[in-house]
Amino acid sequence: MTPPRQKKPKNRIEQGRQEDTVTFQIEGPAVTDAFVLSIDITDDAAPDAARSAESRLSETVRLAEAIDLAIVGEAIVTLKKVRPSTLMGSGKVDEIGRKIKASQAQVVIVNAQLTPGQQRNLERAWHAKVLDRTGLILEIFGRRAQTREGALQVELAHLVYQKSRLVRSWTHLERQRGGSGFLGGPGETQLEADRRVIQSRITKLRKQLASVSKTRGLHRHARTRVPYPIVALVGYTNAGKSTLFNRLTGATVDARDLLFATLDPTMRQIELPKGGKAIMSDTVGFISDLPTTLVAAFRATLEEVVSADVILHVRDISHPETEAQSQDVHAVLDELGLDELRRDAMIEVWNKTDLLDPGHLQALIEKSQRATDCCLISAATGEGLDHLLECIQGRLTGPATEFRIDVPATAGADIAWLYEHGDVQSRDDHQDGSMHFRVKFSAAQVKKARQRFGDALRDAKDSEAIAAE
Ligand code: GTP
Repeated sequence: MTPPRQKKPKNRIEQGRQEDTVTFQIEGPAVTDAFVLSIDITDDAAPDAARSAESRLSETVRLAEAIDLAIVGEAIVTLKKVRPSTLMGSGKVDEIGRKIKASQAQVVIVNAQLTPGQQRNLERAWHAKVLDRTGLILEIFGRRAQTREGALQVELAHLVYQKSRLVRSWTHLERQRGGSGFLGGPGETQLEADRRVIQSRITKLRKQLASVSKTRGLHRHARTRVPYPIVALVGYTNAGKSTLFNRLTGATVDARDLLFATLDPTMRQIELPKGGKAIMSDTVGFISDLPTTLVAAFRATLEEVVSADVILHVRDISHPETEAQSQDVHAVLDELGLDELRRDAMIEVWNKTDLLDPGHLQALIEKSQRATDCCLISAATGEGLDHLLECIQGRLTGPATEFRIDVPATAGADIAWLYEHGDVQSRDDHQDGSMHFRVKFSAAQVKKARQRFGDALRDAKDSEAIAAE
C-alpha cells in the first residue's frame, strides 16, 4: 500500500520505524484530493425528497471540505433504482470511474449510505477509497470532538461502524496502528485480527465512557444546584448557533463556515435584560440522515437539552431548504425521545435575516407576529437580539404562580431547595416541627418543583377553594 499522494505542500509526513511498527506523523492539515458524488434517487419514497440534488451536492462538498479534502471533481448521479452490489448500474460505475481517474482523486465521497459490499465493490472498480455519508460524518465528528467524552463517543461510533465494514479505514485505527494509505486492503487474516482489536477497543471504550459520563453527571448535578436556568441551543449545522452563542455570551466558540464546527457543548453565563442570569449551552449541529450510531453516541452531548429550561431552535431562515432542515432537527430530537417532551420549552430563532430580500423579510415579520414562539434575528449584525433576550426572560420568569406545600422538619434539603428556586411568601412552623410554605414559582421552575415534590405541591388557588368549601 502506498501513503496518500503528496501533491499539496501544506502537508509533511514523516515516516519512521519503531521496532516493527511504521509510524506516520502528520503535521499541518492533511490535504487529499477527493471526488464528490451526490446520489439522487428519483423514487418518491427517497428519504431526502424534500431537498434538491444541487443542494445535497453542495452540502456534501462542504462536509468534505470540513475534513480538509481538496475537491477535484463532483457529479450528481440520478438513479431510478438502487443496485444491491454497486448502488448504481455498471454503465454508470464505468462512466463515473473514468471521471474519477481523470481527476486523479484518491477518495470518492458518496453521499448515500452504502452497504459494506457496495463500498468494497465501488472501491475495486474505481481504485480509490470510498467514503459514504456515515463515514464522512464520523470523520468530521472525529476531528471536531474536543472533550474527552466527545472524543471517546466518536471513537466508539467509528469502531462500531468500522467493525461492520470489515475494511480498513484510513482513520483512527489506521493511524493508531501506523498503517497507511487509502487504497487496497489487508488480507483476510489481517481483517480478522483487526476485528479482534476493534472489539476489545470497543469494550474498553464503553467502560471508559461509563466512568466519564458518571463524572459528567456529578458535575451536572452540582450545576443544577446553581440557581441559574439553562438555555440550550439546537439547530441544523451551519444555522448560526455558535455565532449567536458568541454574540450573547461574548465568548469565542469556533464559528467558522465549517460544518460541525461545534461538537461538544460549551457553556457560558448570560445576563438577562431585566436582571438575572442564565447559562447558555451550545450543542452539536444536526444534519439530515444523521447515522443512528451517532445519534446514540451523541445522546450525552445533548444532555443539556434534556434538562434545559429554554431550548432555542436556531434556523437559517434564509436557506431555501430551511423547512426540511427544521424537520431534520425535530426528527433527531424525536429519535432521542425529546421532541414532544421538550416542545413547550422551545423558541424558534429565525437567523440570518440580513440575507433576506425586503419582501421576504416583511412576510416573515408578519408570520412571526402571528406565532407566539419565534424571534427573528441576525446573529451576524446583532439585529433582534434584544427581543430574543426578552423572549428568553419571559419564558424563564413567566407569570409566577403561588403554591402551598407541607414539608417535614427532617427534609432540610427540600427546604433549602424551596428558598433557592422559589420566592417564599410565608412559612408557618407547626408544633410537630413540620412547616407549611406559601411559595411562588415561575413557569420554568414549576416543572422542576413538580418533579421534586409531586402531588405534595398544591396550587394555592385550589387549596383555598377546598378550604372554603
Ligand atoms: P455547526 O457548528 O456546524 O453546528 O454550525 P453553527 O450552527 O454553530 O453555525 P456557525 O455559528 O458556525 O455559523 C455558520 C456560518 O453562518 C458562519 O459562516 C457564520 O458567520 C454564518 N452566520 C451565522 N449567523 C449569521 C447571520 O445572522 N447572518 C449571516 N449572513 N451569516 C451568519
